[in-house]
Amino acid sequence: MADAPLTVLELLRRAEGWFREQGVSSPRLDAEVILADVLGCRRLDLYLRFDQPVKAENVTTFRERSRDRARGKPVAYLLGRREFLSRSFAVDSRVLIPRPETEILVEEALRRAAAIDGDGDVHVVDVGAGSGAIALSVAAGCSRARVVAIDVSAAALEVARANAAAFGPDVVARVEFVLGDLLAPLAGRGLEGRVDLLLSNPPYVSDAEYARLPRDVKDHEPELALRAGPRGTELHERLFRDGVAYVRPGGLVLVEVGAGQAAEVRAIAETNGWGEVVTLRDFQGIERIVVARRV
Ligand SMILES: C[S@@+](CC[C@H](N)C(=O)[O-])C[C@H]1O[C@@H](n2cnc3c(N)ncnc32)[C@H](O)[C@@H]1O
Repeated sequence: MADAPLTVLELLRRAEGWFREQGVSSPRLDAEVILADVLGCRRLDLYLRFDQPVKAENVTTFRERSRDRARGKPVAYLLGRREFLSRSFAVDSRVLIPRPETEILVEEALRRAAAIDGDGDVHVVDVGAGSGAIALSVAAGCSRARVVAIDVSAAALEVARANAAAFGPDVVARVEFVLGDLLAPLAGRGLEGRVDLLLSNPPYVSDAEYARLPRDVKDHEPELALRAGPRGTELHERLFRDGVAYVRPGGLVLVEVGAGQAAEVRAIAETNGWGEVVTLRDFQGIERIVVARRV
């Protein structure tokens, strides 16, 4: 006699138990999110379907994805997407998974952009575009924004451009993705002294911290997106130093920083010609975004 088909509840129980053994940090939630995606339903709908049998092909897909999750692959990569400010971004191992902390940077950038007088273009530069989460969210939230989004990774820019297409022609027309190192691609664009907002969530993990990162991050997300150098603030230092040539007097830099880096980054800003330096905290109370004005 053939085995009875597995139900939703039984699959969830087995995956949860296995994830727990493998040290997955949110075993039940992850099992539910993965199964809901396989079944094409909302996570909460699973609760109405606990007793339903799951088709063999869906069981197979769920088992394959669960195996990858147990090995540390982040849920966002398994689903191929991540929500950022209520918009869905395609993500895969070519780009960092956008984090909720970075939403604070975008919201502050949009507030600052809205406060810029007049109705002309707002020139925005996003350094380290990754999936395009910052650049595209700012362009979508501010119709005056013209964004140059730079990344040193050609593979990351492929993902960003694909995400841009989903935003539609108005946003595509106002965001240019450019390959290059930090601010180098700005040369020759006539943007010297004209940038209103210089934004960046740069790599900020120090070499020592990198060795200690959780395996979900270290073994799956791009090292180029995470690791900055011996101190972790190397990219911030270059941004504040080189940004002076491009940001107009009165314009702003908004950068994300790692836990414990804010004081050092504020000092870097102040010694490189920036003033009115303020710090925004994230949801855990950690100083996370440094904002500085070009004096
Ligand atoms: C922390 S990720 C941020 C991705 C995205 N902006 C976000 O917030 O989700 C940093 C990005 O900076 C890029 N990057 C690293 N070094 C760079 C450099 N020297 N110049 C430009 N981009 C760089 C990486 O490829 C990566 O996409």
